[in-house]
Amino acid sequence: MALHPSQPLGRLRLGLNIDHVATVRNARGGSYPDPLRAALLAEAAGADGITAHLREDRRHITDSDIDALMKNLSSPLNFEMAATDEMQQIALRHTPHAVCIVPEKRQELTTEGGLDLARDENRIAQFIAPLREAGCRVSIFLATDKRQIESAARIGAPVVELHVGPFCDAHSEGRFETRDEELIKLKDMAAYAHDLGLEVHAGHGITYDTVKPIAKLPEIMELNIGHFLIGEAIFSGLDSAIRRMRNLMDEARRDVSGIGVA
Ligand code: PXP
Repeated sequence: MALHPSQPLGRLRLGLNIDHVATVRNARGGSYPDPLRAALLAEAAGADGITAHLREDRRHITDSDIDALMKNLSSPLNFEMAATDEMQQIALRHTPHAVCIVPEKRQELTTEGGLDLARDENRIAQFIAPLREAGCRVSIFLATDKRQIESAARIGAPVVELHVGPFCDAHSEGRFETRDEELIKLKDMAAYAHDLGLEVHAGHGITYDTVKPIAKLPEIMELNIGHFLIGEAIFSGLDSAIRRMRNLMDEARRDVSGIGVA
């Protein structure tokens, strides 16, 4: 049964994605700014976890960043990774709290879509088995698509992260009809995934302007936000950006009126 909130919802977790602290560092080489320092600051500002994507081409986060995060963080690390043997070995060596399986293309600027799990179901089922046995909470990054969500339930993935980029991009580009359609799809698919027994997260492209309608969806338990918060940190500082996002999430959870973008 879908959740129909008649009272304030529980706390929504915020994961800060620190990839783009590493992007800035790597623009010059060297060690500044340090993603670990950002992660520790984020913990102090109220983030519930840290997300880092170790890409095949190491364009931002590096292997030594993962070593440092695993050694020094007290909050959970969500390790975003492609479904490759190399990444599986790294994850099994570190056994982070969580792994999120994402598609990865060398030429893309960022993760462009959800994983096509329906097409690759058997391989991904085998791929996640040792990660689950090692105690990692496995999530799969998926489009708001029934077929993909059904695949996740079939392979026994405990968590899906729904791709909210199409909603957020439509909002920021002023395509409001599409935005509203995407929000309805997100609402329906979050409820559908929840009904299938999956824990539901959301991520990609979230800003101050788009966070509330997503945070109001009662089935969603965690948001992973990166680029916008790291960008805002330039103007207001990372601590202030995280606190403001946290407040917006909490306000949305307290306000149980209908969905939509104010
Ligand atoms: N969740 C997933 C699965 C992602 O791939 C990304 C981007 O790395 C994010 C969340 C964060 O997206 P953004 O940086 O746009 O906030």
